[in-house]
Order: sequence, then structure tokens, then C-alpha cells
Amino acid sequence: MLIVSTFALLASVKGMAAEENAETVSRRIGRGNPGIGQQQSEAGRCEGCHGADGNSSDAKIPNHAGQYAAYLIKQLGDFQSGARKHEIMTIMAEDLSTTDMADIGAYFAGRNIMNGDGSGDRQLGRNLFVNGDPARGILPCAGCHGENGKGGIAGNVVYPVIGGQRNVYLRAQLVNWKLGERSNSPGGVMNAEAKSLSDDEIEALVDYISGL
Ligand code: HEC
Ligand code: HEC
Repeated sequence: MLIVSTFALLASVKGMAAEENAETVSRRIGRGNPGIGQQQSEAGRCEGCHGADGNSSDAKIPNHAGQYAAYLIKQLGDFQSGARKHEIMTIMAEDLSTTDMADIGAYFAGRNIMNGDGSGDRQLGRNLFVNGDPARGILPCAGCHGENGKGGIAGNVVYPVIGGQRNVYLRAQLVNWKLGERSNSPGGVMNAEAKSLSDDEIEALVDYISGL
């Protein structure tokens, strides 16, 4: 009797975990068509830089593997409008329609999520990530990006996956937020987060986050 109910419990817990996973993945993918997105990504040469599985081969180029489609769509719109500036990506995004963006976003969102190798886990980076620094008004990164940096959606805001993101890319973004060269986050939240981070703190955060 006891054994049967233990098995039943295990089976239901496993079933729940699988459902949650599928639900998380479908939230990441959104409404686009991943099959068409794959063709568009090939045709648009996106995967030449971002990788067919969404993992880039160059630490300056971001991974898209498992990234929220809604976040990718927002960035592509921001490249088109000039709210986010980058020489290459402005050109790459130029001719994409809203449907193309949703489909390509869905394709990358559906790949196995990016993961680091855990090698950057040191005190300074972990502490800032988990606790922030209330004295300087720095909120915990984990509070928005999730405890493993795997992102989420709350209301209209999409918190991108950053855990396992490429390190040179992450450093560039944090420096750009700090200097105000990137300023497309809702309410300027990322500029406020980054403005008082020292170079050492940025380095420690990059090591920690890229390893998640
Ligand atoms: C020649 C290389 C190259 C190609 C081709 C390319 N990208 Fe990019 N992409 C980059 C680089 C480099 C960045 C980082 C920009 C920055 O540092 O702000 C980037 C950034 C992005 C971002 C922002 C990601 C984030 O995490 O904020 C999106 C979305 C994106 N690319 C989508 C695409 C799509 C869709 C295509 C195809 C239509 C494409 N890219 C083609 C190099 C490329
Ligand atoms: C209050 C919520 C919030 C907090 C706290 C927060 N972030 Fe963010 N972050 C965001 C949002 C929202 C975005 C997406 C901005 C956009 O849409 O362009 C973002 C974007 C980013 C990006 C760009 C990702 C990419 O692919 O280009 C990085 C890197 C980042 N955050 C790192 C951090 C770090 C490190 C911390 C802690 C020091 C932190 N964030 C704390 C909300 C937050």
C-alpha cells in the first residue's frame, strides 16, 4: 500500500515537472511558427552568427538558445526604430516583418536553453546577483532575471535569459547600460542597475552569470 502510493506520488510529481517544462517552453516560444522561423533564420543568415542551435560561436555574439521570443522581438523592433543601436544588427533587422520576427523568435526560443559551465561561481559576483547592494540602490539581479538567470515574463515586461549568455557580450551590455549607450530597458531599470557598478564588479557578475 505504502509502496504503491509512493510510486503514485513519484509519478505525479514527475508528470507535473514535465508539464511545467512544456508550459515554460511554450511561454518562451509565444505565437510564432518555429518551422517557418527556422527557414527565415537560414534565409536571413541569422544562424551564421547566432548558431543553428542558438548558441553563437563567438563570445561577442549573443546566444538566442531558449531566449524568450517576446524579448528577441522587442530587441529587433528596437534595432529597427533606433532605440537600440548596433551597426550590424540595424542592417540585419531592417527588412524583417512583425511575422518574421515572431517566427524567428519562436525558432530560437524553442532550442535547448543556453547553459554555462558553472566555472564563474565566486563570492563577489554571486553576492551581487543574489542580494544586490541596497545601500547603492542596486536590486538583486535574481529578483528579475530568476535565480539561475533563466528569465521570465511578468505582466508586459519580459526579463531576458542571461544565465549562460556569452561573456564578452554580457560585459559589453553592462558597460553600455552603465554609460547610457544602451537605454532601451523599461523605465531605464538597467541603466539604474549598472550605473554604480565598478569594473571589478562587472567582471565578477559576467563570470558568474555566463557560468549559470
Ligand atoms: C554578422 C553577424 C550577425 C548576423 C548575421 C546576425 N546577427 Fe544578431 N547580433 C549580432 C551581434 C554582434 C549582436 C550583439 C549586438 C550588441 O552588442 O548590441 C547581435 C544581437 C542580436 C539580438 C539582440 C540579442 C539580445 O540578447 O539582446 C537579436 C534579437 C538578434 N541579434 C537577432 C538576429 C536575427 C533575427 C538575425 C537574422 C535576421 C541576426 N541577428 C543576424 C550579430 C549578428
Ligand atoms: C527590476 C528588474 C531588473 C533587475 C533588478 C535587473 N534587470 Fe537586467 N534587465 C531587466 C529587463 C526588463 C531587461 C530587458 C531590457 C530590454 O528590454 O531591452 C534586462 C536586460 C538585461 C541584460 C541584457 C540582456 C541581453 O541579452 O542583452 C543584462 C546583461 C542584464 N539585464 C543584467 C542584469 C544584471 C547583471 C542585474 C543585476 C546587477 C540585473 N540585470 C538586474 C530587468 C532587470
